[in-house]
Amino acid sequence: MASSALICETEPWKDLKVHVDDIKKTHLRELMCDTKRCQSMMVEFDGILLDYSRQCATLDTLNKLKNLAEAAHLKEKINRMFNGERINSTENRSVLHVALRAPRDSVINSDGKNVVPDVWQVLDKIKDFSERVRSGAWVGATGKALKDVIAIGIGGSFLGPLFVHTALQTDNEAAEFAKGRQLRFLANVDPIDVARNIAGLNPETTLVVVVSKTFTTAETMLNARTLREWISAALGPQAVAKHMVAVSTNLTLVEKFGIDPNNAFAFWDWVGGRYSVCSAVGVLPLSLQYGFAVVEKFLRGASSIDQHFHSAPFEKNLPVLLGLLSVWNVSFLGYPARAILPYSQALEKFAPHIQQVSMESNGKGVSIDGVPLPYETGEIDFGEPGTNGQHSFYQLIHQGRVIPCDFIGVVKSQQPVYLKGELVSNHDELMSNFFAQPDALAYGKTPEQLLKENIPEHLITHKTFSGNRPSLSILLPSLNAYNVGQLLAIYEHRVAVEGFVWGINSFDQWGVELGKSLATQVRKQLHASRKKGEAVEGFNFSTTTVLKRYLEASADVPKEDCTILPKM
Ligand code: F6P
Repeated sequence: MASSALICETEPWKDLKVHVDDIKKTHLRELMCDTKRCQSMMVEFDGILLDYSRQCATLDTLNKLKNLAEAAHLKEKINRMFNGERINSTENRSVLHVALRAPRDSVINSDGKNVVPDVWQVLDKIKDFSERVRSGAWVGATGKALKDVIAIGIGGSFLGPLFVHTALQTDNEAAEFAKGRQLRFLANVDPIDVARNIAGLNPETTLVVVVSKTFTTAETMLNARTLREWISAALGPQAVAKHMVAVSTNLTLVEKFGIDPNNAFAFWDWVGGRYSVCSAVGVLPLSLQYGFAVVEKFLRGASSIDQHFHSAPFEKNLPVLLGLLSVWNVSFLGYPARAILPYSQALEKFAPHIQQVSMESNGKGVSIDGVPLPYETGEIDFGEPGTNGQHSFYQLIHQGRVIPCDFIGVVKSQQPVYLKGELVSNHDELMSNFFAQPDALAYGKTPEQLLKENIPEHLITHKTFSGNRPSLSILLPSLNAYNVGQLLAIYEHRVAVEGFVWGINSFDQWGVELGKSLATQVRKQLHASRKKGEAVEGFNFSTTTVLKRYLEASADVPKEDCTILPKM
């Protein structure tokens, strides 16, 4: 395929388009009867079992998807990523988050230089620093140990670390290391988030980690200035050096902000924000909370999947299979959304993280060469842990729109509960639902079945489930730091596979820029109107009217330059 040719112009794409009619004729109920098919749709790697037999797909579909992967040069693109080539062409960057979790002795080059020693230099620095903070060797300005951490950051500088933190909070090993410590995340520029974060914390015992790849993100920088003020107001400006550290690729701006560059933890432009949880972005706050050894296990889990993704044949390759099936669902079956449904409360922040990884990566309208695409890319990702989601949006999934679902289950609960006299343990109760839902979606319930159950005639259509709704199940052996790393890397690479097949650049994010620059104009207007009484100008009728209403109705905000922090 010439670089400018679109994947939809290839024979395998056209072949799959034709194949859709065959698949639509066959109900999942029938497909599920074919044991040989189901058997070959189960893949296992490093303790993780993927069962994709409830996809609306046959073995023929899989072969055709493999042909599509070949037409898209998937293998070459994966290799180019691992080889450090500048595949993020619109930003002229390589994409090497795999280097962040590579073993110390591995070699991964970017521009002819092995980046792994640099990665480990920062990891060693984090290990040393986090141990000093945790042991009380590094103390705050008044000599007290720093037991609480607020990590300031947004988007990729927040969602991944929050997901991992939430997943580890109830893991006994990690929780043991976190005793007496707190980790909080300040992301939103909404001052309410500041109030929530500082509530109950003492600046004397708090360490603030400012996490920003660019160190220019408006929300993060205002929050950083706010907490700098919170510390200075309580302990004096000299305390900032002991109470604030940074994670960034922009060490010049870190220093300008007033943080000692020795207390800055670097990463590199070849780490995309949403792929940065394995850099200091995640490793520093998580190590402060759980100790470096636990976080290293998380990195090892991710690395195991990296090696698998790089080397396993496509028919056994978890991220590749998942990515190809997503393309099948979106581009051929026409299902634009995907529900991420972990049957584990510890994974409650997994869907929000994958929303960014997937939607910021693959929500694109042009090919990597800038050609407008005649097909849609990306999925609309959303999700909630089961069983909570069952009592919320599953109605739509069962009888409304068709939404391919990812069911994620865990064999061993982090926190088992057994009650005398109960039929099953609490975890078995949860998992009963994990096993039941995919079949309910696949098989549905027919009017004939309902009639046999003596359901009144007028309720038959209401109680009918069409079935034939695709899902896949991922079963993890447990949910420790290693497994969390595995899960993360599976989804990161799955998203890359989809983007490689669609022929887009999954590693830039120009779509977030326009809104940011328009906010700058509004910010200037708010300042001019509030401080100098200037009229609202330069906006359309709608924005002018609502802005005026906002200004008039909040005319009681202080006019003079002053500092007011939350009172909570
Ligand atoms: O909103 C877009 C974005 O650039 C994300 O891609 C990124 O994760 C986030 O903002 C935060 O950026 P930074 O780490 O530079 O503050």
